[in-house]
Amino acid sequence: MSSLTIALAKGRILDETLPLFAHAGIVLAEDPETSRKLILSTNRPGVNFVVVRPTDVPTYVQYGAADAGIVGKDVLLEHGGDGLYQPLDLGLGRCRLVVATKRSFDWTGAVQRGARIRVATKYVRTAREHFAQKGMHVDLIKLYGSMELAPLVGLADVIVDLVSTGNTLRANDMVAVEDIMSITSRLIVNPGALKLKRVWVQPLVDALAHAASAGEGA
Ligand code: PRP
Repeated sequence: MSSLTIALAKGRILDETLPLFAHAGIVLAEDPETSRKLILSTNRPGVNFVVVRPTDVPTYVQYGAADAGIVGKDVLLEHGGDGLYQPLDLGLGRCRLVVATKRSFDWTGAVQRGARIRVATKYVRTAREHFAQKGMHVDLIKLYGSMELAPLVGLADVIVDLVSTGNTLRANDMVAVEDIMSITSRLIVNPGALKLKRVWVQPLVDALAHAASAGEGA
């Protein structure tokens, strides 16, 4: 009852999220990009942030080690969302999840032939569902980053990855051949915290919703 812990990940989402929290009246005591501390205090007594890997944010919130967190829909889909209340789409970190290939790869021909396609991705669960819905049999190869390299060195035929500016695809002579879904950042909350810490959580949800609709941090 006496405190609120919010899980955040470093990187692009953090840059967009901190102004949103500032608008909600919560300001970090130090810069999470440079601090080596893992628990960061704020101007609000009892409100702390923990800085973790993006894929770990749902886990911390699911088990109640953090009461709330900010996470991309891409990460949330891979996690599955079990044990998480998802009250708010913050509309931040907007990008697209796509299927991409080398420009020279005959994607349409491969699909028409029913070729068995090798797919490299961090998003194995989402990719499996996407291709299953299309009735395609694919071999999935799990990677943890730099997916664009896989088709270039013959590890895979295609990748399933996020595209924001498109610069990474262009720089590696690749193209998006299918759009899977739009991705934004979400607020997630531990259901127990929502009940037991409603006095902390509800104002946070309301303030972030207000800041997000006002375009803060976007
Ligand atoms: C993401 C994504 C792409 C890139 C897309 O990678 O996986 O590689 O950004 O952005 P762009 O369209 O603006 O070029 P990230 O930098 O998060 O690193 P990762 O390779 O570890 O996923």
